[in-house]
Amino acid sequence: MKQAMKLITTFILLCVASAASANPFPDGNAKAGQKLFEKYDCNRCHNSIMGGDGNKIFTRFDRKRNSPDGLIEQIGMCSGNVNAHFTPQETQNLAAYLNIFYKFK
Ligand code: HEC
Repeated sequence: MKQAMKLITTFILLCVASAASANPFPDGNAKAGQKLFEKYDCNRCHNSIMGGDGNKIFTRFDRKRNSPDGLIEQIGMCSGNVNAHFTPQETQNLAAYLNIFYKFK
């Protein structure tokens, strides 16, 4: 019985640990990222590409970016579209915000 409790406790701890590491952008602040996204009107082009709701570009079935690294890379590319030079922190913030759509773990 004691052994079983130990196993269960270990299992629960493991679950908690993996949930804690599930965020690929732990240093990003999603709220700050959203502010940047709105300030730079990031969906300006995405809106017309997607025919209305630009956010759909992040969840479309054939979306281009399917990894946290890819998302970071795309933010770098699209920053040129808005003439911005995001700091690593700002990039993390944007990624944390966009991960609301991408849901990378
Ligand atoms: C001048 C137009 C333009 C602006 C402004 C723009 N983007 Fe983009 N964005 C694009 C285009 C074009 C694509 C690629 C669409 C494709 O290949 O189908 C894209 C794709 C993306 C994707 C990848 C979507 C996928 O398929 O996974 C992300 C993420 C992204 N943009 C983020 C941003 C962010 C963040 C900003 C603001 C800093 C921004 N974009 C501003 C044109 C723009």
